Amino acid sequence: MHKKILSKHYKETIALGTRLAKYLKPGDIVCLFGELGSGKTSLTKGIAAGLNISSNKVSSPTFTLMNIYEGKCPLYHFDFYRIERPGELETFGLEEFLYDNGISVIEWADKLGDFLPKDFLGIKAKHVSDHERIFTLSAKDKRSREILKEIKD
Ligand SMILES: Nc1ncnc2c1ncn2[C@@H]1O[C@H](COP(=O)(O)OP(=O)(O)O)[C@@H](O)[C@H]1O
Ligand SMILES: [Mg+2]
Repeated sequence: MHKKILSKHYKETIALGTRLAKYLKPGDIVCLFGELGSGKTSLTKGIAAGLNISSNKVSSPTFTLMNIYEGKCPLYHFDFYRIERPGELETFGLEEFLYDNGISVIEWADKLGDFLPKDFLGIKAKHVSDHERIFTLSAKDKRSREILKEIKD
C-alpha cells in the first residue's frame, strides 16, 4: 500500500508532519528517504510540532547522528547523511533507541542497509519544483500499515 501526498508549500509539509504525529505512538519508526532539500527535515519539524515540540528546535543533527527532543513523548531524530557504510553504525546502539519509549524519525534511512528495522513507516520525499514536494508513504509491516490507514490523503 502506498499513498502519495503533494505538498505545495513548506507550511503544507509542516501540516502533514503534524497530522502524521497524531497517529504515532512510542516505539513507532518513521524512515525518511530522498535527496538533500527534498523536505525530510521540514517534515520532521512538523512531526515535532505535533508532539508539542517547538519546530525551530529541530535541525538536522549533522555532527551527532541524533538529537533527542522532549515532547508528549521523546522524539529521536536521526540523520545518517554522513554515514558511508552501514557497518559504521554497529557500535551506535540504534536499537536501544528504536524500541525505547519514544518516536524515531530517521533521515537518510537508506544508509542503514541491513540495519533497517523490520517495521517502519517509509516516506520518500521528492523535489518537484521550488515549492512542491511529493511524499510517498509506504508501510513495511503490521504497525506501519495501521498508521498508513489512518492518514487520509
Ligand atoms: N513544499 C515544501 N515542503 C518542504 N520544504 C519546502 C517546500 N517548498 C520549499 N521548501 C524548502 O525546501 C527546503 C527543504 O529542506 P529540508 O527540509 O532541510 O530538506 P532535507 O532534510 O530533505 O535536506 C527548505 O529550504 C524549505 O524551505
Ligand atoms: Mg535534513
